[in-house]
Amino acid sequence: MSGTPRRPAEADPPRPNAAPDTAEAASRPVLTTFPPGFLWGAATSAYQIEGSLHADGRGRSVWETFTARPGAVEGGGDGSRACDSYRQWSRDVDLIAQLGLTAYRFSVSWARILPTGQGRVERRGLDHYERFVDALLDRGVTPVLTLNHWDMPEALMADGGWAGRSSVDAFTEFAVAVADRLGDRVGWWITQNEPWIIALLGYQLGLHAPGVRDLRASVAAGHHVLLGHGAGADAIHERVPGAKVGCALSLFPCDPATDDPRDRAAAWGSDGYVNRWYLDPLLGAGYPADMWQHYERALGGGLDDIIRPGDAALIGGRSDFLGVNYYTRRVMAAAETGPDRPFPWRVVGPSGDTVRTDEGWEVVPDSLRDLLLRLHRDYPGVPLMITENGGVYGDAPTHDGRVHDQRRIAFLLGHLRAVAEAIDAGADVVGYLHWSLLDNFEWALGYRPRFGLVHVDYASGRLTVKDSGHVYARIAATGQLPAAGPAVAPFG
Ligand code: FCB
Repeated sequence: MSGTPRRPAEADPPRPNAAPDTAEAASRPVLTTFPPGFLWGAATSAYQIEGSLHADGRGRSVWETFTARPGAVEGGGDGSRACDSYRQWSRDVDLIAQLGLTAYRFSVSWARILPTGQGRVERRGLDHYERFVDALLDRGVTPVLTLNHWDMPEALMADGGWAGRSSVDAFTEFAVAVADRLGDRVGWWITQNEPWIIALLGYQLGLHAPGVRDLRASVAAGHHVLLGHGAGADAIHERVPGAKVGCALSLFPCDPATDDPRDRAAAWGSDGYVNRWYLDPLLGAGYPADMWQHYERALGGGLDDIIRPGDAALIGGRSDFLGVNYYTRRVMAAAETGPDRPFPWRVVGPSGDTVRTDEGWEVVPDSLRDLLLRLHRDYPGVPLMITENGGVYGDAPTHDGRVHDQRRIAFLLGHLRAVAEAIDAGADVVGYLHWSLLDNFEWALGYRPRFGLVHVDYASGRLTVKDSGHVYARIAATGQLPAAGPAVAPFG
């Protein structure tokens, strides 16, 4: 990938335009019917789509400060306009309804509700989301509400942001304010989006807001995000009887590059760092001992000042479901530690030919199926929701005014088939939310990567449902995957 390193999973340079095996996928004789009530949706987040950063008393978030740093964002963009969704929220609702989606995941901008981080609640912010949720419900769309999708109020940086323990109380205030207002109409709640990515990119590598580079701070940040999940979940459960509360994790299956036991140990170590460090405490098993030791070794000291006795009990046992954000896998090899490598492993990426998105991420639907089955086996009884899955494909409208994003269609069908296989094999998967409804502001990568089912022409504001959006609409309407080649006729 170019410029800014974005994901540790992307060690290899991209191989543009590798053709996915659409023909092979489409020729399999499968007509998979999903369970009734399965949620078919798409996902977005506030900072990535809303714009209107000063409207209705919104406070400053850490992303405004970060995007103002020269070189922080590819192309120098920021979220000041994005998809203009704060003003054009009813356009978005129409689009969601037109696509026939039965669920929509969005986030509530923290800085719109608590502009100074703590204390005063901004009613106009809550009014906006209330209107929005009511409009979704009117159209029969189930809201899936995320609280923290990374846009923490800047004022909370006075105590180090997530690296400071006071962030837990601040986040709880946010959860209380939103649950008090929307608890009577929202059933699905996601407390935190991707604790590992917050810790890694926000506090270890400094590639996302708030741009901190400090391993100890990143351990603290990850821990406080999890404590925030626990306290936030309690606050929601107290106020919203029957609420389903979960945390969305970015899960990257870790495979060894070879059968060498050292590479296998590297893959397991990396799994501890990326996946188990968050899964285990959330789902009641406490922090994994092997990764605890890796952190102690890397930091040259204990973690007891960060992770206090009794903390595990404040995190586990509060998840009614687990949000799974899945994009790709990591292929790992053993490596020497060093100044830029705190742990004895590195991402080497797959060898040989492989299908990749335009961003260079390997496309591996089977890893999603195996991940879902692993979660089902290792953390039994926890329903799973795919809260993000998608890929970067740069297709734009052609002469006929349509966006023929065949590779996104292949990506979508491949991953939905993987979900269907996991369900067939016993996994309790309750929904699939594609990332993303719209092309949007992709954090440090700016507006270049396009993840949307709907194309956004940022200059004119024009939206065009891509062929993938039409295919997805058909699937959502029927609950079935096409048996043969994708149907791309426009809906309606
Ligand atoms: C995830 C984020 C989401 C988007 C996708 C591509 O890590 O949760 O906001 O950036 O990646």
